[in-house]
Parts: sequence; C-alpha cells; structure tokens
Amino acid sequence: MPFIRESIVTTLNADSSAHVAPLGVIVEPPWLVIAPFHPSTTLDNLRRHPFACVNYTTDVRVFAGCVTRRKRDWPVTAAERSRGWRLAGALAHTEVEIAEVVEDALRPRFRCRARHEAFHGFNRAQAAVLEAAILVSRLGMLPREKVEQELAYLAIAVGKTAGETEHEAWGWLMEAVSSAGIEPPRV
Ligand SMILES: Cc1cc2nc3c(=O)[nH]c(=O)nc-3n(C[C@H](O)[C@H](O)[C@H](O)COP(=O)(O)O)c2cc1C
Repeated sequence: MPFIRESIVTTLNADSSAHVAPLGVIVEPPWLVIAPFHPSTTLDNLRRHPFACVNYTTDVRVFAGCVTRRKRDWPVTAAERSRGWRLAGALAHTEVEIAEVVEDALRPRFRCRARHEAFHGFNRAQAAVLEAAILVSRLGMLPREKVEQELAYLAIAVGKTAGETEHEAWGWLMEAVSSAGIEPPRV
C-alpha cells in the first residue's frame, strides 16, 4: 500500500544552483514518486535534468522556510552519483533518477528509482509544524474556520513537545497566518 513520506526534494536549476522544495514523496515500491502540481520549479527542473535527491530532515524550519519563502537557500552539498545537490543537514537522503513519467495536466507523477532507505523518527511537534506548513501553503484555498480549528489543535502538540527549532518554525508559520488576517492560536 503506497504511503507518503514528507520530504525535502532538491533539484538542479538551469543555472546549476539547487532548488529546495518540500514535497510529499509517495513510497510505492519499487518507486519513489515525486508528484509536483503545475506550475512548479521542481517540475521544470525534473523535466530538464532527470535527477533529484529526496532528503529526510526533522528540521521543520526547512518546510516552514520554503512555504513562507522566508528562507529557501538551505545549505546543500554535491550529490554523489549524479550532477545535483542534496540537503547538507539531512538525517538521510536518497538520490533518485527518473525512470518513468506518468503525464497529467494537473500533477504529473515522476516515478524514480531509489538507492537506499531512510531514517524515521517521531515527534508530535514536528508533525504539527508539517501540518501547519501544509495549511499555510493553502491559505488562499481553505475556509478560514477550517484553518483556525486545525491550528488550534496543532498548537497543543507544539505546546507540549516542541523544542527550539520547532518553536522557531511554528513562529514563522504563525506570522504568515497573521499576515493572512487570521489570529494564530496561543501555544
Ligand atoms: C509537507 C509538505 C508537502 C508538500 N507536498 C507537495 C506535493 O506533493 N506536491 C506539490 O506540488 N506541492 C507540495 N507541497 C507544496 C510545495 O512545497 C510548494 O508548492 C513548493 O513551492 C513547490 O513548488 P516549487 O517546486 O515551485 O518550489 C508541500 C508542502 C509541504 C509543506
């Protein structure tokens, strides 16, 4: 049964710099599937250079920083097996190459060959910040009440289990929520 691993995908820009983007990579053996919605820099990059690195990090600031566009230039280091980049601070990473593309007008699916497995860790605040990052990336699409209700619930896990890193990322997201005219919950 396929499942989604929330990841940071690094791809190669046309100028050879790194593009860093949070994506839910679908684990569908034997594939890792990257499914970016149109329009997307990740999508353009994968079409130009069929290589990516799927990076696993518990530093939720990378997710929050990218979706708020506050910080996208996270440190990267050269990939080993192909021209490209990987996230320097990741706990683990999988370099992948695109094997097949399932075309779709809205959301093409890039089926990738994976090289090695990942580390998984549990922390409720990290999961809560990820959920909040998804909400922030959809602020213009979701009803206000839904955003308020979900943030109120997620704030509980942040209050109980967040460390400094999670608080910082949560703060960035709540600033974006405030800018959208929504009162952030108290932590
Ligand atoms: C946890 C998480 C998972 C996401 N998963 C996806 C995804 O699977 N596909 C997608 O198009 N955007 C996803 N997004 C939103 C993208 O990160 C965001 O749109 C990003 O800017 C990608 O576009 P880009 O390639 O142009 O940078 C996700 C965001 C978060 C926080």
